[in-house]
Amino acid sequence: MEKFFSKTDYRVVKKIAEGGMGAVYKAQQKGIAGFEKTVAIKTLLGHFAKNRQFIDRFVFEAKLVANLVHENIVQIYQLDRHKGEYFFILEFVNGVSLFSFVDFLVRTKTLMPEKLAVFIASRIARGLAYAHSRCDTDGKPLFIVHCDVCPHNIMITTEGLPKLTDFGIARATSTGDEKSVSGKLPFMSPEQINRENVDFRSDIYSLGMVLFYMLSGKNARRIDISNNDTIEQAKKNTIHWEFMPDDIDEELLKIITKMLETDPEKRYQDTSELSHALEYHIYKDGYGPTIVTLSEYMRKQMPILFDTSSGYTDDKEDNTDISGKTILMNPDSSNIDKTIKLPEEFFDEK
Ligand SMILES: Nc1ncnc2c1ncn2[C@@H]1O[C@H](COP(=O)(O)OP(=O)(O)OP(=O)(O)O)[C@@H](O)[C@H]1O
Ligand SMILES: [Mg+2]
Repeated sequence: MEKFFSKTDYRVVKKIAEGGMGAVYKAQQKGIAGFEKTVAIKTLLGHFAKNRQFIDRFVFEAKLVANLVHENIVQIYQLDRHKGEYFFILEFVNGVSLFSFVDFLVRTKTLMPEKLAVFIASRIARGLAYAHSRCDTDGKPLFIVHCDVCPHNIMITTEGLPKLTDFGIARATSTGDEKSVSGKLPFMSPEQINRENVDFRSDIYSLGMVLFYMLSGKNARRIDISNNDTIEQAKKNTIHWEFMPDDIDEELLKIITKMLETDPEKRYQDTSELSHALEYHIYKDGYGPTIVTLSEYMRKQMPILFDTSSGYTDDKEDNTDISGKTILMNPDSSNIDKTIKLPEEFFDEK
């Protein structure tokens, strides 16, 4: 069989975000004759790079999720390495993280309409149902579990399409050490916090926490990060049902309660069944929300996201001091189209 080799060039357009795990960049993938495709580059875990065990686990997880192709999942195009640093080439999502969007709504004293919140959860549930049911080429289940379903890892495109990202990364970065749990504590299932075996039902729990967050604008589980005992606090697993708006639909509350059962046996036993329950809730009376409804709502609430001249960047550091409605904008949009030094070094000697 003939093999094709090509040295793909990427030109970084701008840094989107930088966090504990690495950085995310917007970049242009260059082909021949002026062909260009916008992609995202996610660098990962410089400090883990020398840990063989971690790298093996990381590559194993990346291979598991490499072929996930679903409209509600951010697609992975490539896993690569340069000078010992691992990076992913990902589908570029033109939009906003669910965290930034809800945070923006809360700061402008708004809560997302119930049906739109359920719509987002139902789409993410479909993406999860797809991943949870994947099998290998021999038909054996892959037992894929996301392990970090949280508002930071859900993005919504400006077209109103919800997408889940970072599949497998939390599981790869779990060290096995009692004191460290990889993932976002406020959204984690009790079994994950307790370092017991997790399966797809853990993702169902986390999605329940995300739905709670969208509907109430608050985390159902409060964790005081100024204390060192954050894991102990999370283990108590107190769900603040009083944060939920009083007028929440009763049937919806039943769905969320079932998602948030401490005992996985009492939750939905199939992610498709959950997706159906959420969809039934929004569509049982006829016409319900669509990606267009969600996009229009975003345009109304957060017009800056649609203003291409604004230089808006979905970066938490830059967006922290917001009050009122003007805001959430990177004042320096001049870095667009400038090449940023560090990532260029990644690609010049491949
Ligand atoms: N494929 C992508 N396309 C466009 N922007 C992205 C993409 N992936 C991530 N981002 C942006 O980068 C931000 C940071 O993502 P990243 O996954 O590094 O951090 P996080 O989810 O907040 O935390 P963690 O490091 O635990 O995953 C996201 O909030 C989002 O705004
Ligand atoms: Mg993430």
